[in-house]
Amino acid sequence: MKLNPVISSRVRQIPESATMKIADIAAQLRSEGRDIISFSLGEPDFETPENIKRAAKTALDRGETHYTQGSGIPELREAIAEKLKEDNNVDVSPADVLVTPGAKQAIFEAICTFIDEGDEVLLLDPAWVSYEAIVKFAGGKPVMVPVSEQDGYVPVDLQSHITRDTKLLILNSPCNPTGAVYGKNAIKTAAETAEDHGVFVLSDEVYEKIIYGAKHHSIGSLIPDRTITINGFSKAYAMTGWRLGYATAPAPILQGMLKIQQHSVSNATSFVQRAGVEALRGDQGAVRAMVAEFEKRRDLMIDGLRKIGIECALPRGAFYAFAKVSQFGTSVEVTEKLLQDALVAVTPGSAFGPNGEGYVRLSYATSRQNIEEGINRIEASLARA
Ligand SMILES: Cc1ncc(COP(=O)(O)O)c(C=O)c1O
Repeated sequence: MKLNPVISSRVRQIPESATMKIADIAAQLRSEGRDIISFSLGEPDFETPENIKRAAKTALDRGETHYTQGSGIPELREAIAEKLKEDNNVDVSPADVLVTPGAKQAIFEAICTFIDEGDEVLLLDPAWVSYEAIVKFAGGKPVMVPVSEQDGYVPVDLQSHITRDTKLLILNSPCNPTGAVYGKNAIKTAAETAEDHGVFVLSDEVYEKIIYGAKHHSIGSLIPDRTITINGFSKAYAMTGWRLGYATAPAPILQGMLKIQQHSVSNATSFVQRAGVEALRGDQGAVRAMVAEFEKRRDLMIDGLRKIGIECALPRGAFYAFAKVSQFGTSVEVTEKLLQDALVAVTPGSAFGPNGEGYVRLSYATSRQNIEEGINRIEASLARA
């Protein structure tokens, strides 16, 4: 059956997720018995800490299996407001917090609340794939602002991309896919530019805790009246499957987001919210141990790539290496070759925007053994080219 004519143009213009596509091919090869090493994962390979699981089980056993307030249970909103104050210097009350089923849902609600047909949204290219897709769903126009490795993937010239239609700038530090962390000056400059031009900022801080020796700065501490700060539990607490995130924003924006939430998903899962309280208030030892392990894997991955002649900036956060492979072909050619010939799954840099062409993203959220074996395979495969 030809369904295309009945699918809305908004949905038709969204490309299939490149990360999902590679994951599908890798899964197919695996089901054929091939031993694939995946560097394409976007999630920690650790278990959710026990204390967090226990909190959810206790809530379940207590019968917390019903709808909650749309904005989230008061205890979790309190814990989030405290966290934002302590970690991020973003001074908000629990009433200024919206709990969502994942940070992605919060990003979706924020963009839909904010964007009218034709409004422009600045994305720093390369950027996480879902921003562009969501802006398009909302009828907005993504404007890709190229950022380069030489500049630490930080925007040096935002102003020249701002027009009368520019409404929103999306920042993501630590960054997926580059691992860049914006320093104090970069955040300050972005804040001043936003203020000068009346632009709002969506700050996606989901990788905040996964950071190596650098300091995380929240733009919401500088321009709270212009910032939607979004964070979640997936990455910091290895809770991708739980679907729990949150946002804080000026009241009218947060109210808009709440409306979308109430009429779509109602609320984040009741007992999962209890787990969120424990994640924020409980022992943080598991997070520290996970980040220490990620740092070792990062070093293994970067050293390994450099030894086999692949250039790669040192990521300061998240769990991705963004490696230059243009000498071996286009992003997609190299990705396909590595998958078919080396049995190593990576993500083509071009999936993150035109400026990502010539790069591939390698996730090191996998064992050290896999990283060593994967690098050996890549070396052997490229030598066969
Ligand atoms: C930059 C970025 N933001 C948001 C998310 C989604 O987070 P959540 O699982 O909380 O929806 C991801 C997941 O890959 C991400 O890379």
